[in-house]
Amino acid sequence: MADPRILIALDYSEPKEAEALVARLDPTRCRLKVGKELFTRGGPALVERLQSRGYEIFLDLKFHDIPNTVAGACYAAAELGVWMVNVHALGGRRMMEAARDGVDRVSRPPLLIGVTILTSMGPEDLAEVGLDPAPGLLVERLATLASRSGLDGVVCSPRETEMLRGVLGGGFKLVTPGIRPAGSTAGDQVRITTPADAVRMGSDFLVIGRPITAAPDPLAALAAIEQEMAQTANTQPQP
Ligand code: C5P
Repeated sequence: MADPRILIALDYSEPKEAEALVARLDPTRCRLKVGKELFTRGGPALVERLQSRGYEIFLDLKFHDIPNTVAGACYAAAELGVWMVNVHALGGRRMMEAARDGVDRVSRPPLLIGVTILTSMGPEDLAEVGLDPAPGLLVERLATLASRSGLDGVVCSPRETEMLRGVLGGGFKLVTPGIRPAGSTAGDQVRITTPADAVRMGSDFLVIGRPITAAPDPLAALAAIEQEMAQTANTQPQP
């Protein structure tokens, strides 16, 4: 069975727009990420329609609440049949363990992924909410806690993948946004990495939005990214 590593971010406010794009894609070559805005508009029915077209869905709702509530939300996502779901690692060990119990109530649970520190938070933002360590240390600490709490992986910057791979080993999934093919525009992303470099640095799944969704021919854009990834898939990490 196809196991595509590209997760296309459906950052649309209208389900119709998302579905028009999806009609031009191919479920053997990508998975789809549905986030808070689109889910709040389209709900579980939209996820079901995308799944019925053959797509596997990363439900990016970043649950963060008391353990019992997060367990219930994760169970609901698992029952919806999504392929991946995520929670905030800052919810702590008991919340993440409850999330694990929630997804494990179905026979084929989704991958359960943690969000460490939002990349929109700089050192000053962290200090303001009482989190003092350097962001890198916090990410390592929260990813380690996520792993110990039974999560399958974390969302992280491609630039953190080598460090996390070293600390957490090979089986822990690393999901990386901030990807821009060589020559494409950065948009509002600041620290960007090419698909080739993300693969080299150890990313398992690449979250890619506008380079594909805003391309005149999304399938051609996807093909170019696949080709770039394939050329580097078996090379060693660069220093
Ligand atoms: O269009 P673009 O490729 O920048 O989309 C990236 C996607 O990844 C968006 O859905 C964005 O919200 C998400 N994301 C991110 N940076 C993070 C976490 C998620 O860009 N740190």
